[in-house]
Amino acid sequence: MASEPEFIWFDGKFVKFDEAKVSLMTHALHYGTGIFEGIRAYNTGNGLSVFRLADHVRRFFQSARIYRMELKYTEKEITESILETVRKNNAGECYIRPLAFYANTALGIHPREPKISVAIITTKLNLYLGKEGGGARVKISPWRKIDNSSIPSMAKGTGQYLSSYLSSHDAKMDGYDEALLLDKSGFVAEGPGENVFTVKDGRIYTPSLESPILAGITRDTVIKLMEKTNPVIEKRIGLSELLTSDEAFFAGTAAEITPITEISGYRLSSAEKGSVSLKIREEYFNTVRGKKPVDKDWLAYV
Ligand SMILES: Cc1ncc(COP(=O)(O)O)c(C=O)c1O
Repeated sequence: MASEPEFIWFDGKFVKFDEAKVSLMTHALHYGTGIFEGIRAYNTGNGLSVFRLADHVRRFFQSARIYRMELKYTEKEITESILETVRKNNAGECYIRPLAFYANTALGIHPREPKISVAIITTKLNLYLGKEGGGARVKISPWRKIDNSSIPSMAKGTGQYLSSYLSSHDAKMDGYDEALLLDKSGFVAEGPGENVFTVKDGRIYTPSLESPILAGITRDTVIKLMEKTNPVIEKRIGLSELLTSDEAFFAGTAAEITPITEISGYRLSSAEKGSVSLKIREEYFNTVRGKKPVDKDWLAYV
């Protein structure tokens, strides 16, 4: 499949890519009123499987609920439509983007009679971040993460990604691969589209969910994979703790597990042979590709 899919599932029907269009007056385009998900499908020994599909669909509906968007479909219908879109596009390993947005075409921040459109898009996405077998150089962003009291980080709202764009663009302009955002009090939050973990003296840490972060499904996968052997400690992480870590890595559906090799000039051993980050990365790939016995609900066969 090319990066542009042949078909997009759009409001219950399959539409050719070029025909899936919206008006320039679309509310979501002006005010960022959308919610979305990012999901990956991987090849396994038993065929193509969508990783943790049920959890992604659940979060999609929770995001909609927070913004009081009434979707005309059930979780089951969206789940089925995602699988159908992957099949229809003969997508193979791919990235899947369900999106719901205010499609009203009258200006004004509050649409009186909300019209919600839902789309499901599949695209090719290989390595999202850093270098294959290398890792990512990361800059601490001068832009702080939006506080939960302003925009709920638990919902994947499209508008909040302006903050992600700003920090990521700043990092890239300075020659880094990605940004890392601190919260308003200066504690570690997350990347623009990834959760973050640190490793110190063999112990693994990640910001707890009181931080303004997304409750990432990859974050949860890492926590569950490490539960028995080296349980992840969820806590607030200060800047000096971050910079004196031995290793750090990003975790996210798009970024998968990306070792962080440098944070604003501080070098880390995350991508060195035998590192904890690389071991977790390997376990993660074995899990999404069905090589490691996992919760059977995690693999949804296409
Ligand atoms: C801001 C943010 N944090 C974290 C993540 C990682 O979440 P997940 O592992 O569910 O993809 C994402 C990606 O969706 C994100 O956009």
